[in-house]
Amino acid sequence: MAELLNDDILEVLLSEKEIRARVKKLGAQITKDYAGKKPFFLGVLKGSFVFMADLTRCVDLPCTMDFMAVSSYGGGTSSTGAVRITKDLTHDIEGKDVIIVEDILDSGITLSYLKSYLSNRKPASLRIVTLLDKPSRRKADISADYCGFAVPDEFVVGYGLDFAESYRNLPYIGILKPEIYSR
Ligand code: IMP
Ligand code: MG
Repeated sequence: MAELLNDDILEVLLSEKEIRARVKKLGAQITKDYAGKKPFFLGVLKGSFVFMADLTRCVDLPCTMDFMAVSSYGGGTSSTGAVRITKDLTHDIEGKDVIIVEDILDSGITLSYLKSYLSNRKPASLRIVTLLDKPSRRKADISADYCGFAVPDEFVVGYGLDFAESYRNLPYIGILKPEIYSR
């Protein structure tokens, strides 16, 4: 890894400004769609933590939130197919209007697993908001109800997204230099 975080980035895909504007719009849309309700935001750790913090502050409704952690990736750049819950819900979601908050929808394996797991807990409704979507990589039959940006099939980091646990604190979303993960 280089001395400065920026040095490992090939290209900025989405700037801070673009992300901020889009997140604000998603928040406004959710505010409209859930008027009169009290959504329960469920962030999928760790990748969604930055998006969750920004998105929920753009929602002008009373709401509650919780986090779950799942792991489907080893240290690599593509899903292994096996999903494991490493931190479960701490609140009951029965009867609640649950919105799953994800960083990126890639193969869809993580979210389709999570969606069926949560459906069994009888929420009043269950929707998905994802910041990024890589539709070209989909293996599971799943789509997001709200999506920030469709992105090309490149490994991206920043704004919560990591490579081997690093780069989450980049304020923008960038394409990682391939030599970093082929090392
Ligand atoms: P899926 O199960 O293949 O849809 O994987 C979703 C998870 O993989 C996301 O929550 C991310 O943690 C991770 N992921 C997928 N693509 C990328 C990427 O380009 N950069 C960083 N993490 C990614
Ligand atoms: Mg990850």
